[in-house]
Amino acid sequence: MTDRVSARLAGLPGSATLAMSARARELRAEGRDIISFAAGEPDFPTPEHILAEASRAIHDPVNHKYSQNAGLPPLREAVAENTRIYSGVEVDPSQVIVTNGAKQAIFDVCAALFDPGDEVLVPAPYWVTYPAAISLTGATPVPVPSLASTGFKVTPDDLDRVRTAATKALILVSPSNPTGSVYSHEELAAIAEWASRHGVWVVSDEIYQRLAYGYPEAAPSIAAAGADLDRLVLVNGVAKSFAMTGWRVGWAIAPPDIVGAAERFQSHATGNVSNVAQRAAIAALTGPQDTVVSMREAFDRRRRLMYELVTAIPGIECHEPEGAFYVFPDVSAHVGDRFASTDEMSMAILEDAGVATVSGEAFGMPGHIRLSYATGEPEIERGMSAMRDLLISN
Ligand SMILES: Cc1ncc(COP(=O)(O)O)c(C=O)c1O
Repeated sequence: MTDRVSARLAGLPGSATLAMSARARELRAEGRDIISFAAGEPDFPTPEHILAEASRAIHDPVNHKYSQNAGLPPLREAVAENTRIYSGVEVDPSQVIVTNGAKQAIFDVCAALFDPGDEVLVPAPYWVTYPAAISLTGATPVPVPSLASTGFKVTPDDLDRVRTAATKALILVSPSNPTGSVYSHEELAAIAEWASRHGVWVVSDEIYQRLAYGYPEAAPSIAAAGADLDRLVLVNGVAKSFAMTGWRVGWAIAPPDIVGAAERFQSHATGNVSNVAQRAAIAALTGPQDTVVSMREAFDRRRRLMYELVTAIPGIECHEPEGAFYVFPDVSAHVGDRFASTDEMSMAILEDAGVATVSGEAFGMPGHIRLSYATGEPEIERGMSAMRDLLISN
């Protein structure tokens, strides 16, 4: 008898972060008071001017029909302009493909770039979707270990240790999910030089670029740090900076041959992204930017609060994050006697303390957990206190 599920999908794990959020929702539905540090999304509402444009767009019949598969021309133009401002590189709107969130951008790009036998370097801890998207093409994700002591950032020496003749690309994310690390311009320049020297593609996921604390506007981009533009793909979207996770608008920017292949792939897989959501994204990118700044300020306050509370728990070490909305503490001192694994510990924190976290095992780094501070300060205080009580009780 043939297997019912394909070999390709049989071994594919579901998204651990979504699974944890789903379990937290279930417990809430049962009436439990659950504080969630699991979600990877802002808790703010989408700004009003974006909603107003979406409401208008719903009633415009032009938006009721299929539109260009690669995205509405004004959105591709707005993305090109946004990329010039925040990533420091001139791109033509024809190099932009608009996707159902940055997630689909990653899948499109992996499908366009990778073949079975290719190796793709993924600094660990990594965002859970990269290995999944790479593996589905038949290519092999190769984790590049990083250490908390060096801010979870990899260097050309680290990359050299795992590079082989089959290395096709490096997927980099800065600011990082799950660590909150931000690469400096100089660190990116060193990686860009290494990649150009070896003809390695760089896929730079910049979805958190405007959530970098201590940078006036945006985190540094490898695009402006000497990357070979002929082997560079940028991935971005409106989800995190504009509190628009549910709208599903992201994009990839790539050289013409790669964007063309991605367009052909997307023309079969999904076609155009919802026109109303695209109109909302145009309003986000071209409208007032003050909400990005006020959300960033709020995240920064929460970041400092959560970092202070997490490092006050005995036995926990934590690298101070500089971007995104996550802290990624080392909890290994608490795993062992009481909990057989980090997964088990994370589940106990949810079931017994009512606090949802995501175990580092999903990110390729057991012994750590990811805590999202995209939630209010009172919840951060209550959740951290419940977690602390659970961990220090015997
Ligand atoms: C690093 C990273 N890239 C991409 C995404 C996906 O973003 P989107 O909601 O636009 O698909 C996420 C969402 O969690 C993320 O953390």
